[in-house]
Amino acid sequence: MENQSPYYERHIFFCLNQREGGEACCAPHGAQAAFDRCKSQAKAQGLLGAGKVRVNKAGCLDRCAGGPIAVVYPEGVWYSYVDQSDIDEIVESHLRDGVVVERLLTPPTVGR
Ligand code: FES
Repeated sequence: MENQSPYYERHIFFCLNQREGGEACCAPHGAQAAFDRCKSQAKAQGLLGAGKVRVNKAGCLDRCAGGPIAVVYPEGVWYSYVDQSDIDEIVESHLRDGVVVERLLTPPTVGR
C-alpha cells in the first residue's frame, strides 16, 4: 500500500458536551464560543481546508474534569483552555506553526 499523506495536516476537536445534574462538563465553560473563535481565527489566517486544518465539534471526550477540553491530532495533544486569548494562541502556535502550547496542556492524569 502506498504511503498517503493525511487529508488534514491537523484536526482539532472541541468537546461541546452538556451534562445534566451538575456533573463536570465543557459546555458551561465557553466551549461553543471557543469553537467559534477557533474556526473564525483559523479561517481568517487561511489555515482551513484539505491538506491544512479542520476544526470540529465533538461530544464528550471523557476528560471532563479538565474541561473545557480540546484535542489536536495527529499529535494527540490535549488542551484545557480558559479564554479567547488561549484559543488564539493554540491557533497561531499549534495549528499554524506546529508548536505545542505547553502552558495549556491538560494534566496527564485528568480523566472524567
Ligand atoms: S464533557 Fe467535555 S470532555 Fe466530557
